[in-house]
Amino acid sequence: MDYKVLPMFPEGFLWGASTSAYQVEGGWDADGKGPSVQDLRTHFPEGTTDYKVAADHYHRYAEDVALMGEIGLKAYRFSIAWTRIIPDGDGAVNPEGVAFYHRLIDALREQGIEPIVTMYHFDLPATLSARGGWANPETVDAFVKFAEVLFNEYGSKVTYWLTINEQNMMIMHGKMLGTTTLSGDEAQRDLFQQNHGMFLAQARVMARCHELVPGGKIGPAPNIAYVYPQSCRPEDQVAADDWNAIRNWLYTDLAVHGRYNSLAWAYLVERGWAPTIAEGDMEILAAAKPDFLAFNYYASQTVAAPSGDASDLRQRGADQQMIRGEIGLYKAVDNPDLPKNAFGWEIDPVGFRTTFRALWDRYQLPLLVTENGLGAYDEPAEDGMVHDDYRIDYLQRHIEQIRLALADGVDVLGYCPWSAIDLISTHQGMKKRYGFIYVNRDEFDLRDLGRSRKKSSYWYQRLIESRGASLDA
Ligand code: BG6
Repeated sequence: MDYKVLPMFPEGFLWGASTSAYQVEGGWDADGKGPSVQDLRTHFPEGTTDYKVAADHYHRYAEDVALMGEIGLKAYRFSIAWTRIIPDGDGAVNPEGVAFYHRLIDALREQGIEPIVTMYHFDLPATLSARGGWANPETVDAFVKFAEVLFNEYGSKVTYWLTINEQNMMIMHGKMLGTTTLSGDEAQRDLFQQNHGMFLAQARVMARCHELVPGGKIGPAPNIAYVYPQSCRPEDQVAADDWNAIRNWLYTDLAVHGRYNSLAWAYLVERGWAPTIAEGDMEILAAAKPDFLAFNYYASQTVAAPSGDASDLRQRGADQQMIRGEIGLYKAVDNPDLPKNAFGWEIDPVGFRTTFRALWDRYQLPLLVTENGLGAYDEPAEDGMVHDDYRIDYLQRHIEQIRLALADGVDVLGYCPWSAIDLISTHQGMKKRYGFIYVNRDEFDLRDLGRSRKKSSYWYQRLIESRGASLDA
């Protein structure tokens, strides 16, 4: 639908930017921090840096927050490293880790920036992983204990809480993200049992947040990629519905309604991967109610009916690291109507609006965008600045779609693109940058780790100052 006049962004809209602890902080063993599965990842793609120094935000957070203040951010979405707070995941609390996030949150508040806290972003404590990860009920209990520490420490300063970042990616790319060490069928069974454990942990933590944080708001943060059928062939539509259910709605239906999506459940039963559900689990899941839905959006996906053989699979990305498609479920195809970025990811701003509309239609909960952005090979020009017009173009075209979603009647709380500052990409290390702020380091050469604002940060600043009106300029 076209509109003659588009609405302004609402007063109080959370214009923000995002990061995650293991990708930005560094200081991986500083001041008593314990190791997480990210610190111990041994299967980095060859030639990709690790996360030990990252952007050194742990030591330079004050400078970073000052720059965020200059840009005029209204919100900053970051994650708290579980192993900084409780180094072995389940034992004693580390006061130095607790103090770091107090300093960070206080610095944000001084700049008038709303902190949005992710409680868990891929960095499960290594000790808990070694004991079976989320398939072990002790991990679920440990997460609740960790959450209680966070709510008690920071609850008076933090209103917005995110439970788990991209639980669906930790299941779909379980080996790569360190969720499982198993292979084949065994890995799938393990992953969906871990998935169930994460759902329980999330539900219990949402309930605890409502008990411990007056006025606190909490929600999940899955990665949502709306799935299109390749054609109007009815079989392609069935494949798109299946993949939408298994990739997207499984996670949001559980978080909001506390029940397994029936198509996703049918798939788990068919494959022999349905988790064991203990007595009382479904009651715990049904009792928890999120206040909003956060989601990360990078692009849509397009699928066709499966052929039932290896031709259903497709390697994705510039370095062909990820496999998409599943034999007998859906065939992954390129969308001929979408351009790709330098890393082979499709770019689909209109799919962003479609995703908003689908989520709103299904749940009628306020929506918060916690990631969206363009990974690129940024290089400073002779004047020292990164002239990232390609990123401005990407962000502008996505933000225009938010405005259309607002006109469609969707309640949008805010927009936190990835990322506030350059950090280590999950798949491609330091060479793939997303930030508004440039960090002077290379894949392996740490240089001086100096900070400088990219052109996109000035563009974003004008946009925030004008509450989005500069889109029309
Ligand atoms: C999301 C994650 O999957 O996408 C981030 O929450 C990640 O941690 C981002 O960095 C972009 O992916 P990548 O692989 O380009 O870093």
